[in-house]
Amino acid sequence: MSDLQREISRRRTFAIISHPDAGKTTLTEKLLLYGGAIQLAGSVKGKAAARHAVSDWMELEKQRGISITSSVLQFEYNGCCINILDTPGHQDFSEDTYRTLMAADSAVMVIDAAKGIEPQTRKLFKVCAMRHIPIFTFINKLDREARSPYDLMEELEKEFGIGTYPMNWPIGCGVDFKGVYDRRKGEVLSYTQFHAGSRAIHADEISLDDTDALRAALGDRLYDTLRDDVELLDGAGYDFDLDLVRSGDLSPVYFGSALMNFGVEQFLTSFLELTTPPLGRMSEGELVDPADEHFSAFVFKIQANMNKAHRDRIAFMRICSGKFERDAEYYHVQGGKTLRLAQPQQMMAEERQIIDEAYAGDIIGVFDPGIYSIGDTICSKDKPVRFEGIPTFAPEHFAAFERKDTMKRKQFETGIRQIAQEGAIQIFHEPNTGLEEVIVGVVGQLQFDVLEYRLQSEYSTAVRRRGLPYENIRWIVSDTDPSTLQLTRDTKWVQDFKGNDLLLFGGEWNIAYTLKQNPGLELAEFSRN
Ligand code: G4P
Repeated sequence: MSDLQREISRRRTFAIISHPDAGKTTLTEKLLLYGGAIQLAGSVKGKAAARHAVSDWMELEKQRGISITSSVLQFEYNGCCINILDTPGHQDFSEDTYRTLMAADSAVMVIDAAKGIEPQTRKLFKVCAMRHIPIFTFINKLDREARSPYDLMEELEKEFGIGTYPMNWPIGCGVDFKGVYDRRKGEVLSYTQFHAGSRAIHADEISLDDTDALRAALGDRLYDTLRDDVELLDGAGYDFDLDLVRSGDLSPVYFGSALMNFGVEQFLTSFLELTTPPLGRMSEGELVDPADEHFSAFVFKIQANMNKAHRDRIAFMRICSGKFERDAEYYHVQGGKTLRLAQPQQMMAEERQIIDEAYAGDIIGVFDPGIYSIGDTICSKDKPVRFEGIPTFAPEHFAAFERKDTMKRKQFETGIRQIAQEGAIQIFHEPNTGLEEVIVGVVGQLQFDVLEYRLQSEYSTAVRRRGLPYENIRWIVSDTDPSTLQLTRDTKWVQDFKGNDLLLFGGEWNIAYTLKQNPGLELAEFSRN
Protein backbone atom coordinates (compact mmCIF):
# COMPACT_ATOMS: atom_id res chain seq x y z
CA MET A 1 0.00 0.00 0.00
CA SER A 2 1.40 3.41 -0.90
CA ASP A 3 1.60 6.21 1.64
CA LEU A 4 -1.22 7.94 -0.17
CA GLN A 5 -3.48 4.89 0.03
CA ARG A 6 -2.62 4.37 3.68
CA GLU A 7 -3.46 7.96 4.56
CA ILE A 8 -6.74 7.86 2.68
CA SER A 9 -7.86 4.50 4.01
CA ARG A 10 -7.53 5.67 7.61
CA ARG A 11 -9.80 8.65 7.06
CA ARG A 12 -13.43 8.80 8.18
CA THR A 13 -15.53 11.81 7.27
CA PHE A 14 -19.01 12.04 8.70
CA ALA A 15 -21.71 14.49 9.69
CA ILE A 16 -23.57 14.56 13.00
CA ILE A 17 -27.22 15.36 12.65
CA SER A 18 -29.99 15.82 15.18
CA HIS A 19 -33.00 17.79 16.21
CA PRO A 20 -31.87 20.68 18.47
CA ASP A 21 -31.26 19.56 22.06
CA ALA A 22 -30.98 15.85 21.32
CA GLY A 23 -27.32 16.05 22.34
CA LYS A 24 -25.28 16.61 19.19
CA THR A 25 -22.96 19.15 20.81
CA THR A 26 -22.46 16.98 23.87
CA LEU A 27 -21.70 13.89 21.81
CA THR A 28 -19.29 15.81 19.56
CA GLU A 29 -17.51 17.08 22.64
CA LYS A 30 -17.13 13.58 24.03
CA LEU A 31 -15.82 12.29 20.71
CA LEU A 32 -13.22 15.04 20.68
CA LEU A 33 -12.34 14.07 24.19
CA TYR A 34 -11.57 10.51 23.13
CA GLY A 35 -9.46 11.86 20.36
CA GLY A 36 -7.49 13.81 22.96
CA ALA A 37 -8.36 17.00 21.11
CA ILE A 38 -9.60 18.51 24.33
CA GLN A 39 -8.68 17.51 27.83
CA LEU A 40 -11.83 17.65 29.86
CA ALA A 41 -14.94 18.12 27.81
CA GLY A 42 -17.16 19.38 30.60
CA SER A 43 -14.73 21.83 32.01
CA VAL A 44 -13.33 23.18 28.78
CA LYS A 45 -16.53 24.15 27.13
CA GLY A 46 -19.96 24.68 28.56
CA LYS A 47 -22.75 24.31 26.08
CA ALA A 48 -22.84 27.98 25.23
CA ALA A 49 -19.10 28.24 24.91
CA ALA A 50 -18.91 25.14 22.77
CA ARG A 51 -21.39 26.51 20.35
CA HIS A 52 -19.54 29.72 19.92
CA ALA A 53 -15.94 28.70 20.21
CA VAL A 54 -15.86 27.52 16.64
CA SER A 55 -18.52 29.68 15.17
CA ASP A 56 -18.30 32.91 17.05
CA TRP A 57 -18.69 35.15 14.09
CA MET A 58 -22.05 36.72 14.30
CA GLU A 59 -23.86 38.51 17.06
CA LEU A 60 -27.15 37.40 15.65
CA GLU A 61 -26.24 33.83 16.23
CA LYS A 62 -25.59 34.54 19.87
CA GLN A 63 -28.78 36.48 20.27
CA ARG A 64 -30.81 33.70 18.80
CA GLY A 65 -28.88 30.99 20.58
CA ILE A 66 -28.73 28.82 17.54
CA SER A 67 -25.84 27.54 15.56
CA ILE A 68 -26.07 29.00 12.09
CA THR A 69 -22.71 27.97 10.81
CA SER A 70 -21.44 24.49 10.38
CA SER A 71 -17.98 23.72 11.48
CA VAL A 72 -15.56 21.01 10.63
CA LEU A 73 -13.38 19.35 13.21
CA GLN A 74 -10.52 16.93 12.74
CA PHE A 75 -8.98 14.59 15.28
CA GLU A 76 -7.08 11.33 15.54
CA TYR A 77 -8.32 8.22 17.29
CA ASN A 78 -7.02 4.65 17.21
CA GLY A 79 -5.06 5.25 14.04
CA CYS A 80 -8.02 6.85 12.26
CA CYS A 81 -8.06 10.44 11.11
CA ILE A 82 -11.58 11.66 11.77
CA ASN A 83 -13.34 14.60 10.17
CA ILE A 84 -16.59 15.59 11.85
CA LEU A 85 -18.91 17.89 9.99
CA ASP A 86 -21.20 19.66 12.40
CA THR A 87 -24.52 20.59 10.88
CA PRO A 88 -26.65 23.49 11.99
CA GLY A 89 -29.66 22.20 13.83
CA HIS A 90 -32.08 24.98 13.05
CA GLN A 91 -34.76 24.20 10.54
CA ASP A 92 -34.16 27.39 8.62
CA PHE A 93 -30.79 26.18 7.48
CA SER A 94 -31.73 23.07 5.63
CA GLU A 95 -29.89 24.20 2.50
CA ASP A 96 -26.64 24.70 4.35
CA THR A 97 -27.10 21.37 6.02
CA TYR A 98 -27.81 19.74 2.72
CA ARG A 99 -24.54 21.00 1.32
CA THR A 100 -22.64 19.88 4.37
CA LEU A 101 -24.07 16.41 3.99
CA MET A 102 -22.77 16.39 0.40
CA ALA A 103 -19.28 16.47 1.85
CA ALA A 104 -19.81 13.56 4.27
CA ASP A 105 -19.46 9.83 3.66
CA SER A 106 -21.80 8.84 6.46
CA ALA A 107 -24.02 10.40 9.12
CA VAL A 108 -24.50 9.91 12.82
CA MET A 109 -28.07 10.66 13.83
CA VAL A 110 -28.50 11.58 17.49
CA ILE A 111 -31.93 10.91 18.95
CA ASP A 112 -33.29 11.81 22.36
CA ALA A 113 -34.47 8.55 23.94
CA ALA A 114 -37.45 10.24 25.56
CA LYS A 115 -38.59 11.90 22.36
CA GLY A 116 -37.70 9.64 19.47
CA ILE A 117 -37.87 11.10 15.98
CA GLU A 118 -38.45 14.86 15.93
CA PRO A 119 -39.22 17.18 12.99
CA GLN A 120 -35.63 18.14 12.25
CA THR A 121 -34.49 14.51 12.47
CA ARG A 122 -37.03 13.73 9.80
CA LYS A 123 -35.79 16.45 7.42
CA LEU A 124 -32.15 15.59 7.89
CA PHE A 125 -32.79 11.91 7.44
CA LYS A 126 -34.43 12.61 4.08
CA VAL A 127 -31.33 14.38 2.87
CA CYS A 128 -29.11 11.48 3.95
CA ALA A 129 -31.47 9.00 2.33
CA MET A 130 -31.28 10.94 -0.95
CA ARG A 131 -27.55 10.28 -1.02
CA HIS A 132 -27.80 6.69 0.28
CA ILE A 133 -25.05 7.30 2.76
CA PRO A 134 -24.75 5.02 5.80
CA ILE A 135 -26.67 6.29 8.82
CA PHE A 136 -25.64 5.36 12.34
CA THR A 137 -28.11 6.05 15.13
CA PHE A 138 -27.06 7.08 18.62
CA ILE A 139 -30.02 7.01 20.99
CA ASN A 140 -29.04 9.42 23.71
CA LYS A 141 -30.00 10.40 27.27
CA LEU A 142 -30.59 6.90 28.63
CA ASP A 143 -29.64 8.30 32.04
CA ARG A 144 -33.08 9.93 31.95
CA GLU A 145 -36.49 8.35 31.70
CA ALA A 146 -36.66 6.98 28.17
CA ARG A 147 -39.13 5.34 25.84
CA SER A 148 -38.88 1.62 25.37
CA PRO A 149 -35.97 0.73 23.09
CA TYR A 150 -38.30 -1.51 21.08
CA ASP A 151 -40.63 1.41 20.48
CA LEU A 152 -37.79 3.64 19.37
CA MET A 153 -36.47 1.11 16.91
CA GLU A 154 -39.89 0.43 15.53
CA GLU A 155 -40.45 4.13 15.04
CA LEU A 156 -37.20 4.42 13.07
CA GLU A 157 -38.11 1.49 10.86
CA LYS A 158 -41.67 2.61 10.22
CA GLU A 159 -40.99 6.27 9.64
CA PHE A 160 -37.78 5.98 7.72
CA GLY A 161 -38.37 2.71 5.93
CA ILE A 162 -34.96 1.35 6.87
CA GLY A 163 -33.85 -1.63 8.88
CA THR A 164 -32.31 -1.13 12.30
CA TYR A 165 -29.79 -3.30 14.05
CA PRO A 166 -29.14 -2.68 17.74
CA MET A 167 -25.40 -2.96 18.29
CA ASN A 168 -25.91 -2.70 22.01
CA TRP A 169 -28.94 -2.77 24.28
CA PRO A 170 -29.67 -0.54 27.24
CA ILE A 171 -30.12 -1.99 30.70
CA GLY A 172 -32.70 0.12 32.48
CA CYS A 173 -32.97 3.87 32.07
CA GLY A 174 -33.09 6.99 34.21
CA VAL A 175 -31.90 6.36 37.76
CA ASP A 176 -31.97 2.64 36.97
CA PHE A 177 -29.62 2.89 34.01
CA LYS A 178 -27.01 0.24 34.64
CA GLY A 179 -25.15 0.09 31.38
CA VAL A 180 -25.37 -1.53 28.00
CA TYR A 181 -25.14 -5.04 26.65
CA ASP A 182 -22.67 -5.28 23.79
CA ARG A 183 -24.23 -7.77 21.41
CA ARG A 184 -21.13 -8.53 19.41
CA LYS A 185 -18.96 -9.20 22.42
CA GLY A 186 -21.73 -10.90 24.39
CA GLU A 187 -20.76 -8.72 27.34
CA VAL A 188 -22.47 -6.36 29.65
CA LEU A 189 -20.73 -3.10 30.21
CA SER A 190 -21.87 -2.25 33.67
CA TYR A 191 -21.08 1.23 34.81
CA THR A 192 -20.09 1.53 38.37
CA GLN A 193 -19.18 5.14 38.52
CA PHE A 194 -20.69 8.28 37.05
CA HIS A 195 -18.10 10.50 35.52
CA ALA A 196 -19.45 13.09 33.18
CA GLY A 197 -16.37 15.00 32.21
CA SER A 198 -13.35 12.79 32.07
CA ARG A 199 -12.42 9.98 29.79
CA ALA A 200 -11.84 7.56 32.62
CA ILE A 201 -15.18 5.89 33.01
CA HIS A 202 -15.11 3.03 35.38
CA ALA A 203 -17.00 0.17 33.85
CA ASP A 204 -16.94 -3.59 34.38
CA GLU A 205 -17.15 -5.93 31.47
CA ILE A 206 -19.17 -8.94 32.52
CA SER A 207 -19.90 -11.87 30.27
CA LEU A 208 -23.54 -12.66 29.73
CA ASP A 209 -22.82 -16.17 31.00
CA ASP A 210 -21.58 -14.94 34.35
CA THR A 211 -24.98 -15.05 35.97
CA ASP A 212 -23.87 -14.39 39.53
CA ALA A 213 -21.81 -11.34 38.67
CA LEU A 214 -24.58 -9.97 36.49
CA ARG A 215 -27.27 -10.47 39.11
CA ALA A 216 -25.07 -8.68 41.58
CA ALA A 217 -24.38 -5.78 39.22
CA LEU A 218 -27.83 -5.33 37.76
CA GLY A 219 -30.21 -6.69 40.38
CA ASP A 220 -32.62 -9.53 39.70
CA ARG A 221 -35.28 -7.56 37.87
CA LEU A 222 -32.97 -5.93 35.34
CA TYR A 223 -31.04 -9.15 34.92
CA ASP A 224 -34.22 -11.06 34.05
CA THR A 225 -35.34 -8.36 31.65
CA LEU A 226 -31.95 -8.41 29.96
CA ARG A 227 -32.08 -12.19 29.47
CA ASP A 228 -35.53 -11.87 27.88
CA ASP A 229 -34.38 -8.98 25.69
CA VAL A 230 -31.31 -10.83 24.49
CA GLU A 231 -33.41 -13.83 23.56
CA LEU A 232 -35.87 -11.67 21.71
CA LEU A 233 -33.20 -9.73 19.86
CA ASP A 234 -31.30 -12.80 18.81
CA GLY A 235 -34.47 -14.54 17.72
CA ALA A 236 -36.05 -11.76 15.72
CA GLY A 237 -35.14 -8.76 13.66
CA TYR A 238 -32.58 -8.16 10.95
CA ASP A 239 -29.30 -9.90 10.61
CA PHE A 240 -26.33 -7.65 10.58
CA ASP A 241 -25.32 -7.02 6.99
CA LEU A 242 -22.50 -4.59 6.31
CA ASP A 243 -23.53 -4.12 2.69
CA LEU A 244 -26.95 -2.92 3.81
CA VAL A 245 -25.29 -0.55 6.28
CA ARG A 246 -23.05 0.83 3.55
CA SER A 247 -25.99 1.39 1.19
CA GLY A 248 -27.92 3.25 3.87
CA ASP A 249 -30.63 0.57 4.18
CA LEU A 250 -29.71 -0.69 7.63
CA SER A 251 -28.87 1.60 10.51
CA PRO A 252 -26.71 0.27 13.34
CA VAL A 253 -28.25 1.58 16.56
CA TYR A 254 -26.31 2.40 19.73
CA PHE A 255 -27.80 3.35 23.08
CA GLY A 256 -25.99 5.54 25.56
CA SER A 257 -25.68 8.81 27.36
CA ALA A 258 -23.43 11.44 25.88
CA LEU A 259 -23.59 13.57 29.01
CA MET A 260 -22.64 10.74 31.34
CA ASN A 261 -20.20 9.36 28.79
CA PHE A 262 -21.92 5.97 28.75
CA GLY A 263 -21.45 3.96 25.62
CA VAL A 264 -19.66 6.74 23.75
CA GLU A 265 -16.31 5.05 23.33
CA GLN A 266 -17.94 1.76 22.36
CA PHE A 267 -19.96 3.64 19.83
CA LEU A 268 -16.90 5.39 18.43
CA THR A 269 -14.86 2.20 18.13
CA SER A 270 -17.64 0.27 16.44
CA PHE A 271 -18.64 3.17 14.20
CA LEU A 272 -15.08 3.62 12.93
CA GLU A 273 -14.94 -0.05 12.03
CA LEU A 274 -18.21 -0.04 10.14
CA THR A 275 -18.28 3.30 8.37
CA THR A 276 -16.52 3.70 5.07
CA PRO A 277 -13.21 5.30 4.25
CA PRO A 278 -13.60 8.18 1.74
CA LEU A 279 -15.93 7.32 -1.11
CA GLY A 280 -15.36 8.19 -4.75
CA ARG A 281 -17.30 11.02 -6.41
CA MET A 282 -18.79 11.31 -9.87
CA SER A 283 -17.22 13.58 -12.46
CA GLU A 284 -19.07 13.76 -15.76
CA GLY A 285 -20.38 10.23 -15.43
CA GLU A 286 -17.12 8.73 -14.19
CA LEU A 287 -16.17 7.78 -10.68
CA VAL A 288 -13.05 9.53 -9.41
CA ASP A 289 -11.16 7.11 -7.18
CA PRO A 290 -10.09 8.74 -3.89
CA ALA A 291 -6.73 7.00 -4.21
CA ASP A 292 -6.08 8.54 -7.63
CA GLU A 293 -2.87 10.48 -7.14
CA HIS A 294 -4.26 13.57 -8.85
CA PHE A 295 -5.72 16.06 -6.43
CA SER A 296 -9.37 17.02 -6.78
CA ALA A 297 -11.89 18.74 -4.50
CA PHE A 298 -15.21 20.54 -4.62
CA VAL A 299 -16.46 23.60 -2.77
CA PHE A 300 -19.49 22.82 -0.62
CA LYS A 301 -19.64 25.85 1.58
CA ILE A 302 -18.57 29.47 1.59
CA GLN A 303 -18.57 31.32 4.83
CA ALA A 304 -17.91 34.95 5.49
CA ASN A 305 -16.69 36.41 8.75
CA MET A 306 -15.06 33.37 10.22
CA ASN A 307 -12.75 35.76 11.91
CA LYS A 308 -14.14 39.02 13.19
CA ALA A 309 -10.84 40.83 13.05
CA HIS A 310 -10.53 40.40 9.29
CA ARG A 311 -13.48 40.43 7.01
CA ASP A 312 -12.53 37.16 5.41
CA ARG A 313 -14.37 34.61 3.38
CA ILE A 314 -13.47 30.98 3.58
CA ALA A 315 -14.37 28.43 0.93
CA PHE A 316 -14.66 24.95 2.40
CA MET A 317 -13.80 22.12 0.10
CA ARG A 318 -13.97 18.39 0.40
CA ILE A 319 -10.95 16.66 -1.05
CA CYS A 320 -12.16 13.87 -3.33
CA SER A 321 -8.90 12.38 -4.53
CA GLY A 322 -5.18 12.53 -4.05
CA LYS A 323 -3.15 14.72 -1.78
CA PHE A 324 -3.28 18.46 -1.33
CA GLU A 325 0.05 20.23 -1.07
CA ARG A 326 0.26 23.76 0.13
CA ASP A 327 2.64 25.15 -2.43
CA ALA A 328 1.29 23.35 -5.47
CA GLU A 329 -0.72 25.06 -8.18
CA TYR A 330 -4.18 23.79 -8.93
CA TYR A 331 -6.80 24.42 -11.54
CA HIS A 332 -10.09 26.12 -10.66
CA VAL A 333 -12.35 24.59 -13.30
CA GLN A 334 -15.23 27.07 -13.23
CA GLY A 335 -12.92 30.08 -13.09
CA GLY A 336 -10.70 28.61 -15.84
CA LYS A 337 -7.61 29.66 -13.87
CA THR A 338 -4.55 28.08 -12.33
CA LEU A 339 -3.94 29.19 -8.79
CA ARG A 340 -2.42 28.47 -5.40
CA LEU A 341 -4.94 27.88 -2.65
CA ALA A 342 -4.33 30.66 -0.17
CA GLN A 343 -4.08 30.07 3.58
CA PRO A 344 -5.26 26.46 3.54
CA GLN A 345 -6.53 25.53 6.98
CA GLN A 346 -8.28 22.94 9.05
CA MET A 347 -10.13 23.09 12.30
CA MET A 348 -8.54 21.13 15.10
CA ALA A 349 -10.95 21.20 18.01
CA GLU A 350 -11.52 24.90 18.48
CA GLU A 351 -8.46 26.14 16.65
CA ARG A 352 -7.79 26.88 13.06
CA GLN A 353 -4.43 25.72 11.80
CA ILE A 354 -2.62 26.37 8.58
CA ILE A 355 -1.83 23.05 6.97
CA ASP A 356 0.80 21.87 4.49
CA GLU A 357 -0.94 18.78 3.25
CA ALA A 358 -4.28 17.02 3.35
CA TYR A 359 -5.76 13.90 1.79
CA ALA A 360 -8.92 12.67 0.13
CA GLY A 361 -11.67 12.68 2.74
CA ASP A 362 -10.33 15.79 4.46
CA ILE A 363 -12.07 19.12 4.48
CA ILE A 364 -9.94 22.20 4.04
CA GLY A 365 -10.88 25.84 4.20
CA VAL A 366 -9.10 28.27 1.89
CA PHE A 367 -9.15 32.02 1.71
CA ASP A 368 -11.68 33.14 -0.89
CA PRO A 369 -11.08 36.52 -2.52
CA GLY A 370 -14.57 36.22 -4.05
CA ILE A 371 -13.80 33.78 -6.85
CA TYR A 372 -15.40 30.55 -5.71
CA SER A 373 -19.02 29.48 -5.87
CA ILE A 374 -20.73 26.54 -4.24
CA GLY A 375 -20.16 23.37 -6.27
CA ASP A 376 -16.92 24.52 -7.97
CA THR A 377 -14.21 21.96 -8.72
CA ILE A 378 -10.52 22.52 -7.94
CA CYS A 379 -8.15 19.91 -9.30
CA SER A 380 -4.75 18.95 -10.57
CA LYS A 381 -3.74 20.74 -13.80
CA ASP A 382 -2.69 17.42 -15.28
CA LYS A 383 -6.01 15.70 -14.94
CA PRO A 384 -8.98 18.06 -14.92
CA VAL A 385 -12.27 16.70 -13.60
CA ARG A 386 -15.59 18.44 -13.01
CA PHE A 387 -17.70 17.23 -10.12
CA GLU A 388 -21.45 17.25 -10.35
CA GLY A 389 -22.77 20.53 -8.98
CA ILE A 390 -24.76 20.88 -5.80
CA PRO A 391 -28.34 21.69 -6.73
CA THR A 392 -29.84 24.75 -5.11
CA PHE A 393 -33.15 24.56 -3.34
CA ALA A 394 -35.93 26.65 -4.83
CA PRO A 395 -36.54 29.58 -2.47
CA GLU A 396 -39.88 29.56 -0.70
CA HIS A 397 -39.99 33.08 0.71
CA PHE A 398 -39.47 36.35 -1.11
CA ALA A 399 -38.94 39.95 -0.06
CA ALA A 400 -37.90 43.17 -1.76
CA PHE A 401 -34.89 44.93 -0.25
CA GLU A 402 -33.88 48.53 -0.87
CA ARG A 403 -31.28 50.71 0.79
CA LYS A 404 -32.42 53.50 3.07
CA ASP A 405 -29.53 55.81 2.24
CA THR A 406 -29.37 56.69 -1.46
CA MET A 407 -25.62 57.31 -1.18
CA LYS A 408 -24.92 53.66 -0.33
CA ARG A 409 -25.59 52.17 -3.71
CA LYS A 410 -22.20 50.53 -4.13
CA GLN A 411 -22.08 48.99 -0.65
CA PHE A 412 -25.62 47.72 -1.01
CA GLU A 413 -24.96 46.07 -4.36
CA THR A 414 -21.62 44.57 -3.36
CA GLY A 415 -22.99 43.33 -0.06
CA ILE A 416 -26.03 41.66 -1.47
CA ARG A 417 -24.07 40.09 -4.34
CA GLN A 418 -21.35 38.72 -2.08
CA ILE A 419 -23.84 37.29 0.37
CA ALA A 420 -25.70 35.69 -2.54
CA GLN A 421 -22.45 34.04 -3.70
CA GLU A 422 -22.25 32.29 -0.37
CA GLY A 423 -25.47 30.55 -1.31
CA ALA A 424 -27.71 31.50 1.60
CA ILE A 425 -29.88 33.82 -0.48
CA GLN A 426 -30.79 34.11 -4.14
CA ILE A 427 -31.25 37.49 -5.75
CA PHE A 428 -33.46 38.67 -8.59
CA HIS A 429 -34.52 41.94 -10.12
CA GLU A 430 -37.51 43.11 -12.10
CA PRO A 431 -36.36 43.90 -15.65
CA ASN A 432 -37.20 47.18 -17.39
CA THR A 433 -38.61 48.85 -14.32
CA GLY A 434 -35.63 50.96 -13.31
CA LEU A 435 -36.38 49.93 -9.74
CA GLU A 436 -33.33 49.78 -7.53
CA GLU A 437 -34.80 47.29 -5.15
CA VAL A 438 -33.57 43.73 -5.17
CA ILE A 439 -35.86 40.76 -4.81
CA VAL A 440 -34.40 38.22 -2.42
CA GLY A 441 -35.50 34.60 -2.24
CA VAL A 442 -34.65 32.35 0.70
CA VAL A 443 -35.42 28.83 1.82
CA GLY A 444 -35.79 29.79 5.49
CA GLN A 445 -37.27 33.08 6.71
CA LEU A 446 -34.47 33.63 9.18
CA GLN A 447 -32.11 34.32 6.30
CA PHE A 448 -33.88 37.65 5.78
CA ASP A 449 -32.87 38.72 9.29
CA VAL A 450 -29.35 37.48 8.72
CA LEU A 451 -29.13 39.45 5.47
CA GLU A 452 -30.47 42.64 7.03
CA TYR A 453 -28.10 42.31 9.93
CA ARG A 454 -25.07 41.60 7.78
CA LEU A 455 -25.74 44.44 5.34
CA GLN A 456 -25.85 46.78 8.30
CA SER A 457 -22.88 45.42 10.22
CA GLU A 458 -20.53 44.52 7.38
CA TYR A 459 -21.50 46.94 4.62
CA SER A 460 -22.85 49.82 6.78
CA THR A 461 -26.04 49.79 4.78
CA ALA A 462 -29.42 50.08 6.42
CA VAL A 463 -32.18 48.51 4.36
CA ARG A 464 -35.95 48.45 4.10
CA ARG A 465 -37.59 45.08 3.61
CA ARG A 466 -41.00 44.42 2.10
CA GLY A 467 -42.44 40.92 2.18
CA LEU A 468 -43.70 39.62 -1.18
CA PRO A 469 -46.55 37.15 -1.54
CA TYR A 470 -44.82 34.66 -3.84
CA GLU A 471 -44.38 31.01 -3.05
CA ASN A 472 -43.12 29.26 -6.16
CA ILE A 473 -40.39 29.95 -8.64
CA ARG A 474 -39.84 28.62 -12.17
CA TRP A 475 -37.17 29.36 -14.73
CA ILE A 476 -38.35 30.02 -18.30
CA VAL A 477 -36.67 27.44 -20.50
CA SER A 478 -38.53 28.01 -23.79
CA ASP A 479 -37.55 30.78 -26.20
CA THR A 480 -40.54 32.82 -25.13
CA ASP A 481 -40.20 36.60 -24.90
CA PRO A 482 -41.18 37.15 -21.26
CA SER A 483 -42.49 40.67 -21.94
CA THR A 484 -45.24 39.20 -24.11
CA LEU A 485 -46.54 36.74 -21.50
CA GLN A 486 -50.09 36.89 -20.20
CA LEU A 487 -49.63 36.95 -16.45
CA THR A 488 -52.07 37.29 -13.57
CA ARG A 489 -51.55 39.97 -10.94
CA ASP A 490 -49.89 37.60 -8.52
CA THR A 491 -47.30 36.37 -11.01
CA LYS A 492 -44.10 38.32 -11.61
CA TRP A 493 -41.42 38.17 -14.27
CA VAL A 494 -37.90 38.61 -12.85
CA GLN A 495 -34.30 37.84 -13.80
CA ASP A 496 -31.62 36.19 -11.72
CA PHE A 497 -28.20 37.76 -11.52
CA LYS A 498 -26.97 35.71 -14.45
CA GLY A 499 -29.69 37.23 -16.60
CA ASN A 500 -31.93 34.15 -16.76
CA ASP A 501 -35.66 34.89 -16.96
CA LEU A 502 -37.98 33.40 -14.43
CA LEU A 503 -41.42 33.73 -12.97
CA LEU A 504 -42.56 34.06 -9.38
CA PHE A 505 -45.97 32.63 -8.60
CA GLY A 506 -48.42 33.29 -5.79
CA GLY A 507 -49.33 29.61 -5.60
CA GLU A 508 -49.17 26.23 -7.26
CA TRP A 509 -52.44 26.66 -9.20
CA ASN A 510 -51.05 29.80 -10.82
CA ILE A 511 -48.31 27.84 -12.52
CA ALA A 512 -50.82 25.61 -14.31
CA TYR A 513 -52.96 28.63 -15.17
CA THR A 514 -50.02 30.54 -16.65
CA LEU A 515 -48.95 27.55 -18.74
CA LYS A 516 -52.48 27.25 -20.07
CA GLN A 517 -52.69 30.94 -20.92
CA ASN A 518 -49.33 30.93 -22.69
CA PRO A 519 -49.01 28.05 -25.17
CA GLY A 520 -45.38 27.19 -25.90
CA LEU A 521 -44.14 28.40 -22.53
CA GLU A 522 -41.90 25.88 -20.79
CA LEU A 523 -40.85 26.15 -17.18
CA ALA A 524 -38.24 24.37 -15.06
CA GLU A 525 -37.68 24.13 -11.33
CA PHE A 526 -33.93 24.66 -11.63
CA SER A 527 -31.89 27.15 -13.56
CA ARG A 528 -29.92 26.04 -16.59
CA ASN A 529 -26.66 27.42 -15.29
P1 G4P B 1 -27.75 19.82 20.59
O1 G4P B 1 -26.35 20.15 20.24
O2 G4P B 1 -28.26 18.60 19.89
O3 G4P B 1 -28.70 20.97 20.48
O4 G4P B 1 -27.82 19.39 22.13
P2 G4P B 1 -26.78 19.61 23.31
O5 G4P B 1 -25.63 18.70 23.20
O6 G4P B 1 -26.51 21.06 23.47
O7 G4P B 1 -27.65 19.09 24.52
C1 G4P B 1 -28.90 19.66 24.85
C2 G4P B 1 -29.16 19.49 26.32
O8 G4P B 1 -29.25 18.10 26.63
C3 G4P B 1 -28.05 20.03 27.21
O9 G4P B 1 -28.65 20.45 28.43
C4 G4P B 1 -27.20 18.81 27.47
O10 G4P B 1 -26.46 18.92 28.66
C5 G4P B 1 -28.28 17.76 27.60
N1 G4P B 1 -27.78 16.42 27.29
C6 G4P B 1 -27.04 16.02 26.23
N2 G4P B 1 -26.79 14.69 26.30
C7 G4P B 1 -27.38 14.25 27.41
C8 G4P B 1 -27.47 12.97 28.06
O11 G4P B 1 -26.95 11.97 27.60
N3 G4P B 1 -28.19 12.93 29.22
C9 G4P B 1 -28.79 14.02 29.77
N4 G4P B 1 -29.44 13.86 30.91
N5 G4P B 1 -28.70 15.23 29.20
C10 G4P B 1 -28.02 15.35 28.06
P3 G4P B 1 -28.97 21.97 28.77
O12 G4P B 1 -29.52 21.98 30.13
O13 G4P B 1 -29.79 22.55 27.68
O14 G4P B 1 -27.58 22.62 28.67
P4 G4P B 1 -26.47 22.71 29.78
O15 G4P B 1 -26.92 23.81 30.62
O16 G4P B 1 -26.48 21.36 30.46
O17 G4P B 1 -25.20 22.96 29.05
